Amino acid sequence: MEEERVITPGLENAQEERFENSLRPKTLDEYIGQTKVKENMKIYIEAAQKRGEPLDHCLLYGPPGLGKTTLSNIISNEMNSNIKITSGPAIEKPGDLAAILTGLSEFDVLFIDEIHRLSKSVEEILYPALEDFSLDIMVGTGQAARSIRIDLPRFTLIGATTKAGALTTPLRDRFGIVHKLELYNTKDLTKIVKRSSKILNVKIEEEAAVEIARRSRGTPRIANRLLKRVRDYALVLSDGNIDLKVTKHALNQLEIDELGLDETDRKLLEIMITQYRGRPVGIDALASSLGEEVDTIEDVYEPYLLQIGFIARTPRGRMPMPGAYEHLGFEFLG
Ligand code: ADE
Repeated sequence: MEEERVITPGLENAQEERFENSLRPKTLDEYIGQTKVKENMKIYIEAAQKRGEPLDHCLLYGPPGLGKTTLSNIISNEMNSNIKITSGPAIEKPGDLAAILTGLSEFDVLFIDEIHRLSKSVEEILYPALEDFSLDIMVGTGQAARSIRIDLPRFTLIGATTKAGALTTPLRDRFGIVHKLELYNTKDLTKIVKRSSKILNVKIEEEAAVEIARRSRGTPRIANRLLKRVRDYALVLSDGNIDLKVTKHALNQLEIDELGLDETDRKLLEIMITQYRGRPVGIDALASSLGEEVDTIEDVYEPYLLQIGFIARTPRGRMPMPGAYEHLGFEFLG
């Protein structure tokens, strides 16, 4: 994947992460959008607190950059508990997970990002931990080997994934709360851009905030990243205040078009229209034509292109839709 892709929703470096952290809401009331998830979580959190129990284990899924980590931090904050953050690929061996679990305190939130990437042997340690707050570990070897059971503190697991379908059924079944995060609408993204500008202490015109929101592919992380770049242009080319003119200039310089698509999105659509002549194409063929990973296409590019109706998924593969032809200036022949 290109290093410089401004709209890549993954985190790129430590500086980027600090920047994001500074903009992250700390409470559910501050959190914009995802109304359904927010309303439900409020009830579950209050109920758990009234019962004096930890919150049930939660699975959050959806495209990257929509606030799964942010929401998990908020949940632990609202539960007045601590959060430990790790990821599926970081937990290599059952012993790594055992160490994490035994290090937890009562009511802690354990956040596992990319939970679909846990190995089978690690996953098996997790089942009794989630169900009975206990850990079965083997001690000794050969004839002397035996299993001992250790009690764990009652904790809440929050699993995050871009691919809910990649979770095994036994793991999925152990989450009492399952929520899908949806791409944000322009109205909510505008609110986020305005809120972030305030925190960054830059003045932004309403129309400029809307413009950034419109071109952020439904993703707050992208909106905040574009805001950061536009802020640079405003400072160097103008008086530091963000107006519509400097916003359009900056976004055009970044080659992000009216709908928030970048060069790679356009290339993907063009390949579907010209090379595959608008016929259904399999994801593997598409990935190799584009020179991208299948996962990247599925997680990063597709969700927004599907949402705006530029591509469709059919049983025989992906197809470009009339809107994509029009946007790229091709004639749609049906
Ligand atoms: N910053 C990033 N995501 C946000 C959200 N959902 N609400 C408020 N600020 C945000």
